[in-house]
Amino acid sequence: MEIDDVNSITVLGAGSMGHGIAEVAALAGYAVNLRDIKEEFVQKGYDQIEWSLGKLAEKERISESDADAALERVTTYVDLAESVADADVVIEAVPEKMEIKKDVYTELEAAAPDRTVFATNTSSLSVTELAEVTDRPEQFCGMHFFNPPVRMQLVEVISGAETADETMDLIADLAEEMGKTPVRVHKDSPGFIVNRILVPQMNEAAWIVESGDATVAEVDSTTKYGIGLPMGTFELADQVGIDVGYHVLDYMQEVLGDAYEPCPLLEEKVEAEELGKKTGKGFYDYE
Ligand code: CAA
Repeated sequence: MEIDDVNSITVLGAGSMGHGIAEVAALAGYAVNLRDIKEEFVQKGYDQIEWSLGKLAEKERISESDADAALERVTTYVDLAESVADADVVIEAVPEKMEIKKDVYTELEAAAPDRTVFATNTSSLSVTELAEVTDRPEQFCGMHFFNPPVRMQLVEVISGAETADETMDLIADLAEEMGKTPVRVHKDSPGFIVNRILVPQMNEAAWIVESGDATVAEVDSTTKYGIGLPMGTFELADQVGIDVGYHVLDYMQEVLGDAYEPCPLLEEKVEAEELGKKTGKGFYDYE
């Protein structure tokens, strides 16, 4: 498939990444099917797209009419088979658990047309292992967006062991059509490139606080004003989801070793369901 053959994109999962990816695809002019397992989840994702488009228009990053047109291109679904019946590309952004994703790919393989290319937004899991669940590992790669997708420039395009060059080209072209800058990642290793650097940095920040060497506010001041990141490390953890960082670390520890052992402070936050902005409380409180 060539980039000009792509008209319809299905995004599986309407959570913090899924809704943002659907928004980016709709802004690029694609017909977007957004699917989640419950009506309330998919409606929440749709509402977040509406909010975000409104914000972009308010800040004059896009026009009101572009915002309205993008929203009109998004259709919501709960039924997976219906949502992928005419999909050229499926971008999967369901929870970051290997078993959940494998179950989704089993269902997806049975429902999607043969031509459909599958791209996973996984932030760390093995693209090769996920692709093995399907009958089309050559038509399968990683397409990893960053939070919030509508504002972040980078997309990692990750090759699994059997990904065809045409699939890498198509998904890199698709990222460019969406106004993003793709970086091709040829080795499918845990965390790829960005999270291999970013998540241990979050973990180290948590260890500093856990050991009583500095406070959350002190660490954030240094990473923001000293190291020059756009947000403090804990502010970013709240934005991304503390559970996301925790699961990435857990997986990296399993595959790469104990250097990536998650700090107990992160585990406590996950157990208390204080996951950041999405739950109203993380390292900071949100209204
Ligand atoms: N859509 C539209 N508007 C949004 C938004 C969204 N999704 N998210 C936030 N905004 C709004 C805010 O509400 C705020 O509006 P108000 O001023 O009205 O309150 C406004 O955007 C802030 O935007 P600004 O341009 O004024 O602020 P900024 O220059 O600080 O940019 C930012 C915001 C782009 C998020 C910036 O802080 C940033 O780059 N942060 C770092 C994000 C980052 O590193 N993400 C990657 C995380 S790693 C990851 O995602 C991978 C993984 O697998 C874990």
